[in-house]
Amino acid sequence: MQPVEPPDAIASLDANLVVDNLSALYGKRLALEGVNLAFPSKAITALIGPSGCGKTTLLRCLNRIHETANLGTVSGRVLLDGQDIYAPEVNPVAVRRRVGMVFQRANPFPTMTIRENVVSGLRFAVGVRSPQHLNEAAERVLRLAFLWDEVKDKLNRPGVSISGGQQQRLCIARALASDPDVLLMDEATSALDPIATAQIEELMVSLAGRYTIVAVTHNMQQAARVSEYTALLLAAEDRVGRLVEFGDTQQMFTKPKDRRTEDYITGRFG
Ligand SMILES: Nc1ncnc2c1ncn2[C@@H]1O[C@H](COP(=O)(O)OP(=O)(O)OP(=O)(O)O)[C@@H](O)[C@H]1O
Ligand SMILES: [Mg+2]
Repeated sequence: MQPVEPPDAIASLDANLVVDNLSALYGKRLALEGVNLAFPSKAITALIGPSGCGKTTLLRCLNRIHETANLGTVSGRVLLDGQDIYAPEVNPVAVRRRVGMVFQRANPFPTMTIRENVVSGLRFAVGVRSPQHLNEAAERVLRLAFLWDEVKDKLNRPGVSISGGQQQRLCIARALASDPDVLLMDEATSALDPIATAQIEELMVSLAGRYTIVAVTHNMQQAARVSEYTALLLAAEDRVGRLVEFGDTQQMFTKPKDRRTEDYITGRFG
């Protein structure tokens, strides 16, 4: 298929994930409207905004999970390396492998061991059978997720037998096993203690060298610590979420262009 050119205003950034005039609905209710955003390649973009402004909805549009919600529909385009993931010939399952997702609550498959959790996608979706190949893949992504040293002696124990922070890193490893281009993280540290949070933040920074990361967070310090770019969404009185500002994190936190950004970041609303 012909790659689609990103819209002019955002074409100058080196971005492998581009959102072009995206709107998302639940039935007739508009949740997000007219979002234009380019997520810079191999960098962390923090997605911030008050509860209900559509952060999770936007993430779910980026890997075609939104359409699995009851009456979830999308208009506009999402370009991954120039190809619209909503084009009719594109398989949503393939999109979800290239755009991995980690959720607020770690969700290892409860009946699977640590190793099985990590390689389940390779086994069942890709059909890799060779135990050696699967073991190597498990080790590779557990190392990438800074978890290998902690679990290498208990790979056959249940995935849910490790700590919450370890389970979250396991879920990150599972997402990395399908060799994605993009990692979406929806408040991935909000259920964790400060030490586990710091470990995941360190991991995020390390992974940003390889993957484009979009991280939803309510924690402004976290956004300032880990992200290079920040996007702020707000819902106006009509409760429809829209992009207010996107920019370099340093600049957004020190010299925001929009008054609403300053108000949100300094805690005056939200
Ligand atoms: N499954 C759903 N069906 C109908 N409406 C939904 C559904 N999920 C979310 N919404 C609505 O869409 C809007 C955006 O919700 P969303 O979960 O994306 O917000 P959010 O920014 O992630 O909020 P939070 O910070 O609380 O996680 C809200 O008004 C919400 O009520
Ligand atoms: Mg949310």
